[in-house]
Amino acid sequence: MVLLSGEAGIGKSRLLRVVREQVAREAYTCLEGRCTPYDQHSAWYPLLAPLARLRQWGLDDTPAVQLATLQQMVQQCSLLGADIVPSLAVLLGLPFPSPPARLPLEPQEQRQQMLAALLALLVSCAAQRPLLLILEDLHWGDPSTLELLDCLVDHDPTAAIYTLVTCRPPFQPAWLGRAHVTPLVLDRLARLQAETMVRHVAGQAALPGAVLQHLVAHTDGVPLFIEELTTAVLESGALQAQTRQVREAPTGTGVGIPVTRHLTQDRFASFPGKITA
Ligand SMILES: Nc1ncnc2c1ncn2[C@@H]1O[C@H](COP(=O)(O)OP(=O)(O)O)[C@@H](O)[C@H]1O
Ligand SMILES: [Mg+2]
Repeated sequence: MVLLSGEAGIGKSRLLRVVREQVAREAYTCLEGRCTPYDQHSAWYPLLAPLARLRQWGLDDTPAVQLATLQQMVQQCSLLGADIVPSLAVLLGLPFPSPPARLPLEPQEQRQQMLAALLALLVSCAAQRPLLLILEDLHWGDPSTLELLDCLVDHDPTAAIYTLVTCRPPFQPAWLGRAHVTPLVLDRLARLQAETMVRHVAGQAALPGAVLQHLVAHTDGVPLFIEELTTAVLESGALQAQTRQVREAPTGTGVGIPVTRHLTQDRFASFPGKITA
């Protein structure tokens, strides 16, 4: 289990993408979910859609086949009773001809049973092929998802499950210190790394030294800022003006280069309070 933490825009999702690319040729099952501020009160929200998409109950299967598959998975798991199947089916959005009978359980018991069922599903998935479980932005996790992770940490650590979760500080799960949990913290880029990234984003465009330094100085080593501000400078006419200015007065200090840019709505969503849109 790896917990990757770092502030917004520092490169957590990017690193996950690289991990996915690196294991692309391996035979494994990937379950990838993302917590959001809007779904903090929807139980198991980040897991449900990825679980329902699993090939075990392909979308093309008839409801009868899907039901049989689910029953088989439940049967394989000794800690589950067959009575969990209808609830699990509803939770996973499987289209069944008739609605399930209500479980004669207290809500808390029902929740515990569902928790055990989801855990069993993950473990049974992993018994077929190694499972890569990715959960992003755990700081927005709903209590049920967080509890499922708590259980997963306590579950048999020899299950073939590689869990990779990301979060922003100060979020810290209780299981952080466990032996099979590796915490990784992504820090801001050092000056040299930031320069390299600015050059990379600029591509073929020639950046005068003053502009480069301006960009590095105003982006605080945060990759998202570097990407956004460098792109903004390239897209605005400021670079051409600055190039002329530098040519005429080489000690120029970046006059006319923007220090912030307007972020599109989804980019802005991850930056509360940092950049004004
Ligand atoms: N090491 C890196 N090199 C180049 N670009 C990066 C790097 N890290 C992050 N980025 C870019 O910065 C932006 C923000 O990164 P992202 O992974 O979305 O951050 P987070 O998930 O931590 O909020 C993305 O567009 C990403 O491609
Ligand atoms: Mg992210």
